[in-house]
Amino acid sequence: MKSLRDIGNSVLVVEHDSDMMKEADEIVDMGPFAGEKGGEKIFQGTYDEIIKSKESLTGKYLSGSLKISIPKARRPVTDKTEMIVIKGARENNLKDINVKIPLGMFVCVTGVSGSGKSTLINNILFGDLKRKIEGTYNEKIGDHDSISGQKYLNALEMIDQNPIGKTSRSNPVTYIKAFDSIREAFAGTPQAVKKNLYSGHFSFNVSGGRCETCEGTGVINIEMQFMADIVLECEECKGKRYRDEILEIKLKGNDGVRKNISEVLDMTVSEAVIFFKAFPKIEKKLKVLEDVGLGYIRVGQSATTLSGGESQRVKLAYHLTFQEKGKKTLFIFDEPTTGLHYYDVSKLLKCFEELIKKGNSVVVIEHNLEVIKCADHIIDLGPESGDEGGYLVAQGTPEEISEVKKSYTGKFLKNVLKRTKAI
Ligand SMILES: Nc1ncnc2c1ncn2[C@@H]1O[C@H](COP(=O)(O)OP(=O)(O)OP(=O)(O)O)[C@@H](O)[C@H]1O
Ligand SMILES: [Mg+2]
Ligand SMILES: [Zn+2]
Repeated sequence: MKSLRDIGNSVLVVEHDSDMMKEADEIVDMGPFAGEKGGEKIFQGTYDEIIKSKESLTGKYLSGSLKISIPKARRPVTDKTEMIVIKGARENNLKDINVKIPLGMFVCVTGVSGSGKSTLINNILFGDLKRKIEGTYNEKIGDHDSISGQKYLNALEMIDQNPIGKTSRSNPVTYIKAFDSIREAFAGTPQAVKKNLYSGHFSFNVSGGRCETCEGTGVINIEMQFMADIVLECEECKGKRYRDEILEIKLKGNDGVRKNISEVLDMTVSEAVIFFKAFPKIEKKLKVLEDVGLGYIRVGQSATTLSGGESQRVKLAYHLTFQEKGKKTLFIFDEPTTGLHYYDVSKLLKCFEELIKKGNSVVVIEHNLEVIKCADHIIDLGPESGDEGGYLVAQGTPEEISEVKKSYTGKFLKNVLKRTKAI
């Protein structure tokens, strides 16, 4: 990038990585927070200036006045620890390796790009266990001899950054199944009862209460030849998605304000948590969205507009809500921090802790050292990429890995551990 600059170009990078920021000539920081609470330019200037900024959250993480702390204690791996044991993994570049994955804790799989992480975890581990435990995996499973330990698990979940729904009809509250209860709350108002309106009338997915011109989407899609479709607000309902008769029905919120269903869909999740205080079932589910750091998104925000990281956290919220007691699930994440700020990373780490507290296991493929330093156990692959990779380089606690000379992860981790402990 610097060579590009040095021969006369301009380079503009959207980035969370501190090493990149350190090298930049100029930094523009947006925020202060996300969504509704963001959208302002917080800071512009050099790296040395941003670390002194009182306003910039980024600057505070860079200077160390805010930080992601290392856990006080790591969950130890002992003879009694339940484990998944992979033997003879040799798909792609993997060198016939045996890997033990301890359960009930936070495990990071690390290594340079192309070292074999996704092959081991996604193609071999996930594929094989999915077929054994749920019998629902039809893709090819990566070459290996055996995997044991599935008896310790009831389920397996891969939480990726793919959209939560392909249509604009799904949104965060439909996904976490809070919308059914919201519709019932509206149907339960005296006004609705008097007019014989049922919960179905408050749906935008079926005919009855929704605006039929836009079929409850609030927008009209105009297909253009040779160009992207044009999306216009529906003239009939003015983007409100429902018929007037439905919009007249109002629900009184905990803040005393009366809102119709369209206005409820327009609230942020945090506003809705307060609004629905008198409806514990709804409040509880919305609260989980807030816990994963999504308080700022709109209740009815279309799934197609959520970012990868936001989609991933909505999925996480779903699992945190519906995870059955005593059901042990292995959660797999492949680079979940892509696109996340330090501030978001700290929230994600708290969610991992919640999952583990409930008896689940978390395996994360990750390059982000802020996450790796918090792991209970690291499995480091490499040492290089492609043919020079595919070996198990080291495994152990972050402290142990940081002492392994041939591990790149260890080398970088050593600095991060030292830095975090110093501040
Ligand atoms: N379908 C495939 N066919 C042939 N080679 C493959 C295939 N998929 C991956 N590889 C090779 O196997 C090696 C390991 O790839 P893998 O995707 O597991 O790496 P990774 O550690 O997950 O990297 P990254 O951090 O970039 O995601 C790489 O050299 C890659 O080029
Ligand atoms: Mg990968
Ligand atoms: Zn309409």
